[in-house]
This record gives sequence, C-alpha cells and structure tokens, in this order.
Amino acid sequence: MNPAFEFDVCIVGTGRVGLPLGLSFIDVGVAAVGLDVDAHLRDTVNAGRMPFHEPGYDALVASRRFVVHAEPEIVARARAIVITVGTPLHHHIETDLRQIQRVLESVAPHLRAGHLLCLRSTVAPGTTAFVKRWLARHTRFTVGQDLLLAFCPERIAEGKAYEEIRTLPQIVGAEDADSQAAAAALFARLAPEIMATNFVSAELVKLFNNIARYVQFALANQFALIADEQGANIHEIRRMANHNYPRNHVAAPGLTAGTCLRKDFGMINEWSPYPDLLLSAWKMNEYIPAFLVQHLQQRTPIHDRRVAMLGYSFKADTDDVRDSLAPKLYRYIDRETPLEIRVSDGYLPDPVPAESGTGPLRNWPLDEALAEADCVFVATNHSQYAAALRTLAERRPECWVADIWNVGGIDQIFYQAGALRA
Ligand SMILES: NC(=O)c1ccc[n+]([C@@H]2O[C@H](COP(=O)([O-])OP(=O)(O)OC[C@H]3O[C@@H](n4cnc5c(N)ncnc54)[C@H](O)[C@@H]3O)[C@@H](O)[C@H]2O)c1
Repeated sequence: MNPAFEFDVCIVGTGRVGLPLGLSFIDVGVAAVGLDVDAHLRDTVNAGRMPFHEPGYDALVASRRFVVHAEPEIVARARAIVITVGTPLHHHIETDLRQIQRVLESVAPHLRAGHLLCLRSTVAPGTTAFVKRWLARHTRFTVGQDLLLAFCPERIAEGKAYEEIRTLPQIVGAEDADSQAAAAALFARLAPEIMATNFVSAELVKLFNNIARYVQFALANQFALIADEQGANIHEIRRMANHNYPRNHVAAPGLTAGTCLRKDFGMINEWSPYPDLLLSAWKMNEYIPAFLVQHLQQRTPIHDRRVAMLGYSFKADTDDVRDSLAPKLYRYIDRETPLEIRVSDGYLPDPVPAESGTGPLRNWPLDEALAEADCVFVATNHSQYAAALRTLAERRPECWVADIWNVGGIDQIFYQAGALRA
C-alpha cells in the first residue's frame, strides 16, 4: 500500500455489513478504520462491544484494534474508502440514495489523488455510474486517472459474516484497469477468489443472487397454499420431492422478507414498467401473514382468545427486525380482536422496538408468553422454539399452533400442540 496513507482502508458505515468487514480486515492484518454517523454505534464498538448479534467477532471487537470515527476527515488517511451505508427503499418502488449521497458530500472534500473508492452497499443497476458522474461533477478528480472507483457487492448472510467474508468469491466491478487492479488487490486479502467485471454486471450479480432466493421462497409459499387447498401436506410433499431427486430443490415455506430480500427486489423493479414474475413473487410472500391468520381462523376463533407470537425478527437467530413480516402478522392477529397478544423474541430487547408502524411492544419471556396461550403463531424460526413447543404440548395440548416454518417438526402448518407428543 502507498506509504503516504496511514490506513489501508476506511469503512464508511460500520453497520451490519461494514463492521464485520472492517473487523475481518483487521483479522487478516489489513490496517482498517471506520467512519459512522451513529454516536451510539461508535461508542459501543470503541468500547469493545458488538452493537448487534453477529457471531465470531466478539474477541476482535474487544481488541479495540478497529476504531470508528465521527469525522469524515479520517478518509484522507486511508488508501481505500469502502462505502457500506444503507440503501433502503422510499415508499415508492425507488431506492433511497440519500445515505450514499451524504457520504459522497462528506468525503468529497477529503479525497486525495490515488484514492480507491469502493461502493459495497447493494444498489440498483446504474448507481455506480451515477457515483462516477457525481465525482466528475463535484470533484477535481477523474475516475481511472487520479481516482479509482469500483463496485464490490457484499453477499454475506447475516449471522454467517465471519465465515462467508473469507470464503465467498468477491465480485469486482470496475471500468478501468487501475480501479480493477486496486479493488481486486484489496479484497484478495480476504476472499479466496476474485471475479472481475464491469459496474452494472457486478450490481446485477448481487441483485440476482438475492432475488433468486426471494422468488424461490415465493414459489415455496405458493406450493404451500396449493397443498393446503388440496388438503395435502406441503412438508411431506417437499420431503418426497427433494429426496434423492437430482434436478431441483423445493424450498421450505416461511415468512419471507427481511431488509435485503424485499428491498433488493424493489431495486430491480424500479427500472421496469411491466407487471412481471417478480411482482407476483412479492404478492405471494406478502400474503403469507394473511394466510396464517385466515387459515387458523378456520380451525379456531382468535377473537377473545389469548395469542402468543413467537419471534419478531426477520429470520432465525438474528436480532434484525428490519422489514420483518412479523409486525404485519401481529397487526392481522390484532384485527381479530384477541384478548391479548404476547410477543416473545429472545434476540430482542424489552420492549420490542417499534417497527413498521407497530410497537413498542412488551417482549415477554418465552414461558410466560406461552403460559396461557390458546393460539400460537411461530413468526420466526429461532432455534429455541422447537423445545418450547414440546413443553407447550405437555402443558396446553389443546392450544392451536400456526407453524409455517415446521419448527414443531411434525410436517404440519396448523395443528394442536398435543399432536407434538406423538
Ligand atoms: N445486512 C445484510 O445482511 C446485508 C448483506 C449484504 C448487503 N447488504 C447491503 O449493505 C448495505 C448496508 O446494510 P447494513 O445492513 O449494514 O445497514 P446498517 O443500517 O446496519 O448500516 C449502515 C451504517 O451506515 C451508517 N451511515 C449512514 N449514513 C452515513 C454517513 N453519511 N456517513 C457514515 N456512516 C453513515 C449508519 O449509521 C449505519 O451504521 C445495504 O445496501 C444493504 O442492502 C446488507
């Protein structure tokens, strides 16, 4: 690295993507530093603690070798700047680029000749080209001459960052040889393999990876509805369809959303005028909370009953509630006017954070949430729920369960808890 720079890399936005990345760089001997506007996050990291649940990083963060700064001047001291800020959607089908734009505005005065700027946030096709235009308009540098620019998407799954940052191939999208070489050299310190391409293909690789999962789960959910209409058992069918069959894998149904899958789907749709397969997938996945409430209702009333909702985060064993479908499920249950709904999620604080227009809600201890329940909705497939349902089977065998994740393991979506005793 250029000796004029004190650090090899500055990670801008040290959230769920940026912080694991920065710590992984430190882990392999890359001199990394962070920049973030969130004072609470900075204080937590700089005190040696993880601000969220991400296994594998506790010792690294406790070493305090990765320091997160508040002042954008820090970027001038790092050879490479990797941008990992959030890219949510506006209410319309449109990426909200404000975090990226604010980063560009704040770091632009501190850019130096020779800097490598890597965009790593997930973005709609054409966004890296926009960044290039922005730099041409607002700085004295020219990409490919005195400033280097690349798009290097992050493809880790939350909860698996520590392992996946070191094992996934790294896509490097750049449009000049020097940018390509500099970004490849940086990420080769972490990744086993570099795949070189241009901006838009790198942007699409990331989106297609996520959207393929979103559509695959939509298909799984559609199959679950068809099986239910036919009085058949989706889990049994799935097991047989997948057993020793070489040509495809039928995924499990579930509450499919989460910050990445849903918004990344929006990013690809913002540039397409047609109602397409992706919109159908969206509708299917969004319908599942309604399906669970409607179909449990067909078996037992929810009105005036005590309901427990297990899980509030968007997927198993994470504390991330962004874009979770659980708040939507909560509201649909609430519309049936039950006596009460007790939400329990051991990964979240009490109260459960206000999310998507609901809350804050009391976060009940798991045993108390289930103690008097007439109906249980398993909203998230956290690992500890299988044992909790077995206890429920002993204590409240009449209690109805809506278990789209098959956490109970008896291959049924709707059942009375006593069925788990068999
Ligand atoms: N979370 C995932 O599992 C995952 C996986 C792959 C890709 N991604 C993508 O990575 C990007 C980041 O996602 P995330 O989950 O880490 O988001 P996040 O909200 O956890 O982290 C973003 C961080 O950027 C900081 N920030 C915002 N504006 C800033 C600014 N002007 N200057 C400095 N810091 C600023 C925020 O304070 C926050 O800490 C998104 O585009 C997301 O789609 C996320």
